[in-house]
Amino acid sequence: MSTWTKPAKESSPRKKVTIHTLFEKKAKGEKITFLTAYDYPTAVIEDKVGIDLILVGDSLGMCVYGFDSTLPVTMDMMVNHSKAVRKGAPNSFVIGDMPYMSYQISTEEAVRNAGRLMQEAGVDGVKLEGGVEMVDIIKAITRAGVPVMGHIGLTPQSVSMLGGFKAQGRDVSAALKLIDDAKALEEAGCFAILLEAIPAEVGQIITERSNIPILSIGAGQYCDGQVLVVHDALGFFGGHVAKFVKQYANMNEQIEEALTKYKEEVEQVIFPGPEHCYKIKEDELAKLKEALENR
Ligand code: KIV
Repeated sequence: MSTWTKPAKESSPRKKVTIHTLFEKKAKGEKITFLTAYDYPTAVIEDKVGIDLILVGDSLGMCVYGFDSTLPVTMDMMVNHSKAVRKGAPNSFVIGDMPYMSYQISTEEAVRNAGRLMQEAGVDGVKLEGGVEMVDIIKAITRAGVPVMGHIGLTPQSVSMLGGFKAQGRDVSAALKLIDDAKALEEAGCFAILLEAIPAEVGQIITERSNIPILSIGAGQYCDGQVLVVHDALGFFGGHVAKFVKQYANMNEQIEEALTKYKEEVEQVIFPGPEHCYKIKEDELAKLKEALENR
């Protein structure tokens, strides 16, 4: 490997984002910026450009491991990727996602697994999916000193129960359930809540009624901040793009072009050129040839 990008702490110092920073932004009406990251180089860039929150999302199951859902993601995967992101992003507030079945079985297991993300990976907080049914678990984790972000609306770990990846909260009873869930999560001690794929109006109601920061992925512009899966934002994959995604680059095309060029240049012996090759001094080369002849 020839290059190594310095983490932001060394290349451009900025103040560490804390829960206090997030509450201050909500109070001032300043939007909170939030992206996923799963590896060190991406984390370095996100921290460098000043992203407030970085989620090591269980979406890494799809984005990094090629699974067709988040369900096969394990605690060991989350810990390892969170460690890499933490190393690359010392200043952003890094959140480790709690994978499927790491917090649903018992409060004790939930606390132990949240603790692993804090202790082994050094994250600043954890995220878990679910509404009022998660209150006891959230209370136990926060009692252990771990900040918890809630996640309601379209919750991918329950995709089978929800009948697919569909927008949620589109009728009165479903919207009321989300509003009640958000209140219950706040009262249980969550420091923030992520709303996924719900109508913007419902996102607005929840944001206005909450004293904690409300983040959106497909929950409209009135929330306190926005998150995107970084692979979506960068256009890493071809194919279907969810309604709430905006692609800020087309990495898929750019990487394909670059790698095709690399393949052609190797095949046509254009790469490596003389500038990529090490040299031996002429007299050493002459001696080497002589030594070979005398062998
Ligand atoms: O895992 C993830 O990437 C998420 C997104 C909804 C932000 O939870």
